[in-house]
Amino acid sequence: MTTIKVALLGFGTVGSSVYQTIQSRRSKFERLIGKKVEIVGVLIQDETKQRNIADGILVTSSFEELLAIPEIDVIIEAINGIEPGAGYLSRALEKGIHVVTANKELLAHEGQSLRETAAKGHAQLKFEAAVAGGVPIIGTLQQLLQVNEVSNVEAILNGTSNYILTEIAENQVGFQAALHSAQKHGYAEADPGNDVDGWDAFYKLMILCELLLGKQPDWTQVSRRGIRGITLADIQVVETAGWRIKHIASLQVKEEKAQLRVEPMAVPEGHPLYEVSGVDNAVSIQGDLAGNLKLQGPGAGALPTASAILEDFVQLYKESDNRNRSIDASILAEDSNRLQDWLATAPSIPKTAAVKQRWKGKQADNNAYLVSATEGELEKLLQAGKICNFFRLAGAGREIADTVPILI
Ligand code: NDP
Ligand code: HSE
Repeated sequence: MTTIKVALLGFGTVGSSVYQTIQSRRSKFERLIGKKVEIVGVLIQDETKQRNIADGILVTSSFEELLAIPEIDVIIEAINGIEPGAGYLSRALEKGIHVVTANKELLAHEGQSLRETAAKGHAQLKFEAAVAGGVPIIGTLQQLLQVNEVSNVEAILNGTSNYILTEIAENQVGFQAALHSAQKHGYAEADPGNDVDGWDAFYKLMILCELLLGKQPDWTQVSRRGIRGITLADIQVVETAGWRIKHIASLQVKEEKAQLRVEPMAVPEGHPLYEVSGVDNAVSIQGDLAGNLKLQGPGAGALPTASAILEDFVQLYKESDNRNRSIDASILAEDSNRLQDWLATAPSIPKTAAVKQRWKGKQADNNAYLVSATEGELEKLLQAGKICNFFRLAGAGREIADTVPILI
């Protein structure tokens, strides 16, 4: 039986879990792909850390030394940030080494160029773990929804943010304590600002966009807000009005134009993302033939991420390369001057607001108001302390009057 030689870049939450899973499921891999799997090297940063790695496996902080191991077949990458990882992966792909990566920041920035390098090197680049952790969204879009035209994607893509919102809502935990708990579980990024300021979900949305539309938008035209600053009071007020706050990445294609956003939204009961809680991620997809599909599961953490990486790994030896579908859609710039429907939390309707006549909600038993306003107007009110927060209404094309008649 021939042997597949694997090198790991990174031995943190994800890398160590991949290592343990490969070591403990050797016979399963042999049955699945008909070859032995051997880990030959591990790249880390800090050579002084104690690690549970078997004798005979090279552990090094030098990529040169790792790459000098003869006949590496696959590199599994799970380190942080764009560099040095992008350079390492590029060199591996040039040499014809297949790459499986979980690194969405790297992919959002360098995915296109790495794909080109992979094609030149006759190697494959796989990245299921980079979007939505253990949820097989990449494979689903690449392999199972080829004939459908996908017109709308709404997704919870950051496990840490969803976990924090859930902890605050269900256990009345403070923001910092909830974040600390997410870090302890291994969900958060090395810099958790990536999670709570919406960057992580943004990178994942860019990867999905590239997959669906064959290109990314101008990043400056994509509105990005994170969950920082959302309070228990916001959550309670919105929930009393029958909604939930969820951090949502969305992509809508209309008449060959796409609009992308990453932001906390007010989600009505019955919406596919309403019940998604804790570290779960979920992706709701509208296909023209399939209708609405939802994939849901753990979006972060050691085992779910190792699961996605190792499913990719097995696929390397079970299929030939899949080419991305490319449809001709241009990217719509975000128009912050467009009137849209929002749920705003505020002690009362701002008296000085130019938008006053468009506040459709009257104060019910809580401080949630439905308002038709531009994003710019609400940003100003927020900055001036006239409102506590504001959320776009989830559910494409819904009218205020259709969604919450009780407040009209
Ligand atoms: P950790 O911080 O737990 O581990 C990072 C690992 O990378 C460590 O072993 C670290 O070395 C090593 N490393 C960092 N920088 C370098 C470098 N310059 N050279 C060599 N090694 C380096 O991160 P995670 O395991 O949580 O995440 C890894 C990647 O996977 C990230 O890109 C993340 O976004 C992605 N990811 C994470 C998920 C999760 O749930 N945690 C889920 C999906 C994707 P050392 O041990 O010496 O410090
Ligand atoms: N920090 C990321 C999250 C890890 O919380 O979703 C998974 O990509």
